[in-house]
Amino acid sequence: MLDWYKDAIFYEVSVKGFADSNNDGIGDLRGLIGKLDYLRDLGVDVIWMLPIFPSPLRDDGYDVADYTSIHPNFGTLDDFKALLIEAHKRDLRILVELVVNHTSDQHPWFQASRDPQHPEHARYRDWYVWSDTDEPYAETRIIFLDTEPSNWSFDPLRGQYFWHRFFSHQPDLNYDNPEVQKAMMRVVQYWIDLGVDGFRIDAPPYLYEREGTNCENLPETHAYLKRLRAFVDAYAPGTFLLSEANMWPEEVIQYFGDGDEMHMNYHFPLMPRIFMALAKADRAPVLSIMARTPDLPGSCQWGTFLRCHDELTLEMVTPEDRAFMWDFYAPEPRMRLNLGIRRRLAPLLDNDRRRIEVANSILLTLIGSPFIYYGDEIGMGDNIWLNDRDGVRTPMQWDAAPNAGFSDAPAEQLYAPVIDDAIFGYQQVNVAAQRADESSLWRWTRRALRIRKQHPVFGRGTLRFLNPYNSTILAYVRSDGAQTILVFNNLSAESQQVTVDLRAYTGKVPRDLLTDVVWDSIGGTPYTFTLTAYGYCWLAL
Ligand code: NOJ
Ligand code: CA
Repeated sequence: MLDWYKDAIFYEVSVKGFADSNNDGIGDLRGLIGKLDYLRDLGVDVIWMLPIFPSPLRDDGYDVADYTSIHPNFGTLDDFKALLIEAHKRDLRILVELVVNHTSDQHPWFQASRDPQHPEHARYRDWYVWSDTDEPYAETRIIFLDTEPSNWSFDPLRGQYFWHRFFSHQPDLNYDNPEVQKAMMRVVQYWIDLGVDGFRIDAPPYLYEREGTNCENLPETHAYLKRLRAFVDAYAPGTFLLSEANMWPEEVIQYFGDGDEMHMNYHFPLMPRIFMALAKADRAPVLSIMARTPDLPGSCQWGTFLRCHDELTLEMVTPEDRAFMWDFYAPEPRMRLNLGIRRRLAPLLDNDRRRIEVANSILLTLIGSPFIYYGDEIGMGDNIWLNDRDGVRTPMQWDAAPNAGFSDAPAEQLYAPVIDDAIFGYQQVNVAAQRADESSLWRWTRRALRIRKQHPVFGRGTLRFLNPYNSTILAYVRSDGAQTILVFNNLSAESQQVTVDLRAYTGKVPRDLLTDVVWDSIGGTPYTFTLTAYGYCWLAL
């Protein structure tokens, strides 16, 4: 099917953190290949890999030094080709990162651009955004607030300032230069030729700069992204484009164009509101952002997630809500980073199985296609004492063996220590133990993913909110021509009585997809039932 992504479950993996095949302490492509059966068994359809390209790794690979090769830590191009073959054999799709906006300052393009003595300087001079002063584009916000005082940094060799929306070692490419535009298209072509199924486009809102604007979401940027889409449609129809525009719905909608730009965008503002709704035991935050969420062009889809490799961003909430979220979910200063919270799902939700399940219930049923962050299927913990966002990127916990079964290297050689605290340590939290335990979170996740996939209505159907009087209940109807499913989520720590007007479904007999329990048939009077603390149900009619 052309729009397979509407039914797909996405899994975000840090290759570095997943499995180490050569025991050098760093996860690699061969290690990932060895875990494809695991992912298939879990019920994943698409693997999105964090950057695997040559890089000084000062932003975990989002600082690309070569767009056409593999970082030796992770293996070789042959390993990558093997990964594609093995993944495709198992009906798994592979997405790679396309870091469009910037490169590493170690990229040869930047080296040539900054150095007037460089033999290729004339060719690359205008590949980045240079200025004699640090004054242009003053209305542009700083994203990495904790580390960057300005979007401009001075380069002594060139004697000018260069523009960067992220770290000062990540100079922004100059998209006004047609050579840059072409170069990025060639990168896309290169990975398509190798056989990738699609791209996750990093930080697309920032491609162009214009004085007098905030330099985000500019028409020129959309025009380029549309050209990119036209190129992949013509060159390799079916190539999937996912964009990471961390913006309000009104802005994100533009990244879909008329179905001629990105296939999918993450719904960034929804994510913190799921956590806010749980914290307040009130559905209002979710309802209000969904009321602001426009319908998408028919071929497009939202990507939804609870956690990822970055901090839980609070950029798309009001200052009051941000203060509330920091207070509630990040009481320790060390848990905060930039405008967000650097914690994983299970620790955020107090390792409370009921809260983890209801959050996932919303993720899997509300809208769009879900992304699972590696390790969250077993409720992995984090390490807030590691640098930057490294604390949510620790080695995957496979079993209770040394190094959590991630690597046979000496423990001190691992790229990051495994989690070994009393609650989240690998002795307690690991894949092997949870696979063996019928009541584990892993087993629950696998089952929930299966059920979601058996019912395409979750990825494709319409969404209508039911508004029971009790505002601790987030309730909605997903329906398509073939099926209607009622979903109820109790956001509160107490059991709740729900009374809801279901007269439109009189005569139907609800069946809970998760438990197979058949409920009382719906009559002409209000339908009343009780949901346990953080309980949820997916009722097929
Ligand atoms: C977004 C990525 O998710 C993040 O990890 C990275 O630091 C920035 N883009 C810059 O590439
Ligand atoms: Ca390795």
